[in-house]
Amino acid sequence: MKNLLVTGGCGFIGANFIRLALRENPNIRIINLDCLTYAGNPKNLEGIAEGENYRFVRGDICDAGLVNDLFQEEQIDTVVHFAAESHVDRSIEGPAQFIQTNIVGTFNLLEAARKSWGQNAPDHRFLHVSTDEVYGSLGETGYFTEATAYDPRSPYSASKASSDHLASAYFHTYGLPVLITNCSNNYGPYQFPEKLIPLMINNALNGKNLPVYGDGKNVRDWLYVEDHCEAILRVLDQGKFGETYNIGGNNERKNIEIVQAVCDLVDELAAPLAEGRSRRELITYVKDRPGHDRRYAIDASKIRDELGWEPKVAFEEGIRRTIRWYLDHPAWVESVLDGSYREYYEKMYGGR
Ligand code: NAD
Ligand code: DAU
Repeated sequence: MKNLLVTGGCGFIGANFIRLALRENPNIRIINLDCLTYAGNPKNLEGIAEGENYRFVRGDICDAGLVNDLFQEEQIDTVVHFAAESHVDRSIEGPAQFIQTNIVGTFNLLEAARKSWGQNAPDHRFLHVSTDEVYGSLGETGYFTEATAYDPRSPYSASKASSDHLASAYFHTYGLPVLITNCSNNYGPYQFPEKLIPLMINNALNGKNLPVYGDGKNVRDWLYVEDHCEAILRVLDQGKFGETYNIGGNNERKNIEIVQAVCDLVDELAAPLAEGRSRRELITYVKDRPGHDRRYAIDASKIRDELGWEPKVAFEEGIRRTIRWYLDHPAWVESVLDGSYREYYEKMYGGR
């Protein structure tokens, strides 16, 4: 039995990961450590019962005492570290929490693993989940490879870059069995509606304006969340310690293309707007995000060639599944859109 500490397991990717990992590996015990920020939601794991294979601990990765105790008590041998403040716009409004969670929190976990595992831990693993945003912004051409120099441009990506450097340092200095993954934009079920795709789905369903930043031509490389989770399992299983693996969907789209695709599918799958208006009419160009990275695109050939991982879900299929999921789970959407979301929305988008 492997004892796996998953941090941030009540968030978007963490919850999808726990669901997949428990489905595919009956011989693991997952301890999910999550302090339930606005982005963490126990409902994301509804149906997963506490017991031999799963335990939820509500706690902060910045609490060193708690993290150390958990390593001892649960004999943790594997860490998959998702917990983070993850939204770029929030990092622009208030960077302090990003420094605390993403840097100090990661440091605490690395320290706990180092103390608990010692120098020679070949059967142990510390997988640090990171982002392609650490590489900065691309022009019209080129791709991020594992050798691309770090050039983060938002408080969020700078805090993630910092945590990547710490993880890498623990491999080189202490021999900690570290693996790092840098992934592109995910989408799918359970994503909090502050990120582009679920925000657009939710607004489109409710006939609200669809706020597109700047000229709408910024490019992201979209990956269905379950493909990301499968890649993480693959890296845990076969990755080489000290290595970084880029994960991407090979699926570049301009933001405006994403929003138009959401409009068309919501028109097809949900109740029509009054007078049969197309949801594309709701698209509204708004003030750009400060320091908005122009283009991200991942070269995922290393993980493909060395570990045999490739994305399985085509964008057309993934986006349809995602919209259906939001349509089928109105209670989930309602439960996450509490007063604090409304306040956030007003602050970020009010008057635009
Ligand atoms: P999310 O914001 O949906 O979830 C984050 C989770 O971490 C929440 O459950 C939250 O409660 C928890 N958390 C936050 N601070 C914590 C703390 N101090 N202690 C314990 N738990 C805490 O994030 P996500 O989109 O699921 O992203 C997960 C990870 O993947 C992050 O590290 C992010 O940087 C990385 N990533 C995300 C994407 C993406 O497109 N969403 C892409 C690449 C990498
Ligand atoms: O690339 C991986 C990263 O992808 C992750 O590390 C981050 O955690 C995740 O949030 C995501 O960052 P982005 O900033 O790319 O994602 P977001 O969904 O916030 O925005 C995607 C694009 O859409 C971006 O160019 C900004 C734009 N956008 C976003 C919102 C919320 C809009 O035009 N309007 C919006 O309302």
